[in-house]
Amino acid sequence: MDRPRIIIFDTTLRDGEQSPGCSMNVPEKLRLAQQLDRLGVDVIEAGFPIASDGDFEAVKQIANSLRRPVIAGLARACAGDVDRAWEALQGAAHPRIHIFLATSDIHLQYKLRITREECLAQAREAVRHAKTLCQDVEFSPEDATRTDVPFLCQVVEAAIEAGATTVNIPDTVGYSMPEEYGQLIRTLYEKVKGIDKVVVSTHCHNDLGLAVANSLAGVQSGARQIECTINGIGERAGNAAMEEIVMAMRVRPDRYPFETSIASEQLFAASQMLAEITRVPVQPNKAIIGRNAFAHEAGIHQDGVLKNPLTYEIMTPQSVGVPDSRLVLGKHSGRHALALRCEQLGHQFERRELDEVYRRFVILADRIKKVQDSHLLELIQDVSSGMVSNSEVSGHKRIFPPATANLSQPRAASVAAGAGSAETYSANAGPAQVTIPFSDHHTEQEDYLWGV
Ligand code: KIV
Ligand code: ZN
Repeated sequence: MDRPRIIIFDTTLRDGEQSPGCSMNVPEKLRLAQQLDRLGVDVIEAGFPIASDGDFEAVKQIANSLRRPVIAGLARACAGDVDRAWEALQGAAHPRIHIFLATSDIHLQYKLRITREECLAQAREAVRHAKTLCQDVEFSPEDATRTDVPFLCQVVEAAIEAGATTVNIPDTVGYSMPEEYGQLIRTLYEKVKGIDKVVVSTHCHNDLGLAVANSLAGVQSGARQIECTINGIGERAGNAAMEEIVMAMRVRPDRYPFETSIASEQLFAASQMLAEITRVPVQPNKAIIGRNAFAHEAGIHQDGVLKNPLTYEIMTPQSVGVPDSRLVLGKHSGRHALALRCEQLGHQFERRELDEVYRRFVILADRIKKVQDSHLLELIQDVSSGMVSNSEVSGHKRIFPPATANLSQPRAASVAAGAGSAETYSANAGPAQVTIPFSDHHTEQEDYLWGV
């Protein structure tokens, strides 16, 4: 049976751009939008056209240049905003107007200073107006998770009656818990007339670190669109991270039997591009695309990964576009990883020789933390000359013949595994050949051992 498809709605260029220090100019937004297109996202929220001329221009240019994805423009629930969004979207092959209006009492009372009745009427009116311009209209009751549930049901029903084709349920302040968020989506399915005719969407913020968990709980309860951002950027603690959502569904289809249109091998490139444009680096331990996501420093881990990547990796680096797995050479590294790196540098050792290289390597690593190729070559040379002079004294002849690592010979690794698709390790897959390439990477990466 076909798995339900989850629509991936990317809001990196709108909600993501609202994170401090992440603003982008028009050419940068266009460049990133092209990468989002390569990535295969279904909907790109390109901006909030009424917010500034720059935002208007970015939405316009993206709408004019990308033909495959839906292009959305955000609008508050008033005619001026909706008209401006529509103006920016004129050139889009697949335009969407996305209207939002807060519905929680705290927002109504302190921010909007309107009653629930006025809120209901405003939502209905704005969606009706948008519908006269554009077939594809999304409605978001802002702060939905802190809204009185019967009132939320009333507003969502009114928006559907007025013509909304997608209803999005934002956890605007990242307050919800996964079970609670899932329950809210189920309640809406039970209580709201017409909800089966529209797409229900999740939009979760990460204030308690639960944005991805909440989004996944939402799709388990019937939501079929997830709003998310690259690297999880967004207001305050950010939005649900696209790379985590997509890979959670890929790696665990037993728990999340859903499809997306995302070309996961483009995730790393998208992440790198965003970090480069915004100059906001990705934290090293960030799941899926962080520098350390596939790095193994501890000797036991390195040994395991070299014998079978499945021991410590649940997806291949290649499946998310990371060129190769990285074994960092540091003080916790083991002999096995060191020997491999030496081999890649053209030096093969016998046991006794390796012992000496390893002994000096540990002393060096203790001092400089990460041992780079240049350090290792120096160390090998030192050890080599020391051993030669010792051996002359002791009468031994052969020490450290400059060996050429047999790199044309792929290293066999049995890649068995989790329950993933072809891009992740497959549980039933037989042994696979994993080639260990020569290091041709740039200096920043030279301190990594490109092992498997
Ligand atoms: O977090 C939020 O409520 C939003 C809406 C505009 C959808 O970003
Ligand atoms: Zn948001």
